Order: sequence, then C-alpha cells, then structure tokens
Amino acid sequence: MRVLGIETSCDETGVALYDTDRGLLADVLYSQIAMHGEYGGVVPELASRDHTRKLLPLIQEALDAARLARDELDGIAYTAGPGLVGALMVGASTAHGLARALNIPVLGVHHMEGHLLAPMLEDEPPAFPFVALLVSGGHTQLVEVGGLGRYRLLGESVDDAAGEAFDKAAKMLGLAYPGGPQVARLAERGDPRRFRFPRPMTDRPGLDFSFSGLKTHTLTAANKLRDEAGELIDQDRADIARAFEEAVVDTLVIKCRRALDQTGLKRLVVAGGVSANARLRERLGVEVAKRGARAYYPRGRFCTDNGAMIAYVGAQRLLAGERDDTTMRAVPRWPL
Ligand code: KG4
Ligand code: ZN
Repeated sequence: MRVLGIETSCDETGVALYDTDRGLLADVLYSQIAMHGEYGGVVPELASRDHTRKLLPLIQEALDAARLARDELDGIAYTAGPGLVGALMVGASTAHGLARALNIPVLGVHHMEGHLLAPMLEDEPPAFPFVALLVSGGHTQLVEVGGLGRYRLLGESVDDAAGEAFDKAAKMLGLAYPGGPQVARLAERGDPRRFRFPRPMTDRPGLDFSFSGLKTHTLTAANKLRDEAGELIDQDRADIARAFEEAVVDTLVIKCRRALDQTGLKRLVVAGGVSANARLRERLGVEVAKRGARAYYPRGRFCTDNGAMIAYVGAQRLLAGERDDTTMRAVPRWPL
C-alpha cells in the first residue's frame, strides 16, 4: 500500500510517501521557522497561510521524487491533531479533497503517535513493547507502548513541555526561536559547576514532570547578572544555559530510569524535537547500558515534525482498515 502523508500541525509543512512493502519512497519538508523567528514564536495565522502556499507544490515534489503518478496512491494520511487549528485544517482539507478526487481512503492521525513511531522508520526499529519518552515543544510524556494503538500514559508534564521550557529559557537569554538547539549550543561552553537548578518532581515517586519552575530559575539567574543596559556577557549566558540544560536532561533521565524499572522493559524510545538533544542522548545511553537495555531514536531529520512519521502511522492504520468518513478532522487538543 502506497500512502501519502501530510503534516501541517505547526510550523513545518511535511509531505512523504510510504510504501508498506518498500518503505519510505520520498520525504520533503518546508520549514517556516525563519518567518516566525522575526516574531519570537509561531504566529498561527501566518502558519496557516504558508501551509496553504506550500502544501500542493510539496505534494507534487514528493510524487516526482518517488516517480509516482497521483493515481498510484492507495491512501492518504494527514495530521488531524493536536496542533494549531488553522494549520491543521490546511492539511485536513487538502487530504480529504485529494482523496475524494482520487477515490482512495483517507485518515486523520495523531501527531504524537507519529513522533512515537518515528523510530520504526529506522533500519533497526524497536520491537514492541517499549517505554517511550515523547519530548516536543507541546508535550512531555512517558508512555508504555504495547503495540500500534496500545498506549498507556505513565506520566506527563503538569505544566510546560520540555521543548517549550527550552524555547522560553532561550528567549530569556536573548536567543532566537526555536530555542532548543541554540540553548544546547550555548551550553557546550558553559560551566556546569557555576549554577545548580533544581530537578523538579524527582524527590517524590511518580513519573510526572514540571518544567515551568526552571523558567523562574533561569530568569532570576539572568537578572542578577545583567549590566545597566540589561545585557548579559556571553560566558554568563553560557553558564545559565548549561545549568538549565543539565536540569532538564537530568530530570528526563531520572524519570526514564524510573519508567524502565517500573515496567521492567528493556527498550526505550525517545522521540519529538527534544530527542535531538545531544546531552540527553549521551546521558540516556549510559543509563540504558547499565540496565542491559537499549535506546532507540529517530534519525535527526525525523526528531522534529515531518511527513514521514505521519505517512508511516497512516499506512499501518489504513492497512488495518481504518479510515475517515466524509468529514475532515482538525482537533487542536487531543490526548494520545
Ligand atoms: O517535535 P517538534 O518539532 O514540534 C512539536 O511537535 O512541538 O519539537 C520542537 C521542539 C522545540 O521546542 C525545540 O526547541 C525543541 O523541540 N528542540 C530541542 C532541540 N532541537 C529541537 N530542544 C533541545 N535540544 C535540541 N537539540
Ligand atoms: Zn511535533
């Protein structure tokens, strides 16, 4: 089955073609990050308009790259949520229109299920069951995954997502959007002994997270060091970035360790934008090795939003007979 996947939930227009026999045939992406950067964050109205402008040309580009004609498609999958409603509607209406014209099935899929199963696109995919840490700009969740659609939430953030915290800390340090990669880069030059931020919610049992307090620590540390013009010297910024990153990474590692011990599982999947973080990968690598376990990640390009993960999940579900009726779906808030 050849499935076209469409991702438009936030600020990337992603299109991919996945064949259930041959694997990934094409994957194209257009990022709006530069446009939103000017505003310090994603502007929903601009995101929708840009998806409208880019989506059809990208679909054609993906078909050309795979040397496929439109009528060789067997199904279409799109991100139905969660995300920005206007942005979601661009993908949903395009998917439904195209599916109707081609007379093929169409299915709205969950964005976080896409992230969760993105490591399945790699050469050595994890077998079920596994523990998954989903860390993106909108979510921080630990999930026990028994199989496709068999998800048990073990814990989640009670306030900000880890990626959101990275983005907010970046803003406080005067870095551009999206802040995660920039904070990480700055932190490399930081002294880990200069400041110590707390590891929220690690001193009590449970697998929930809280990252909003780390914003306050970042802001307080930064404000103490600003000069009269409100500026920070580079080393101070780097030291704060390091303390912040260490705190987030340490907290995520502690909870992953706990989730593995609690479930007795030996496979850990880490996905979503923050899974690109090098320090997180390094630290988790040590922890899983100690347990005779193994960590699985998507390739760098598939850590953040992309069409491939949507095409993959859609293909599995379409193959199982799932499909939308004639109503397109755009669900801004949708638990996994
Ligand atoms: O999964 P994603 O592309 O979009 C959402 O579904 O949210 O994740 C984007 C998030 C942003 O908050 C970004 O700052 C963060 O992932 N991120 C990182 C890194 N790369 C991206 N955070 C920390 N370290 C990174 N290297
Ligand atoms: Zn995402």
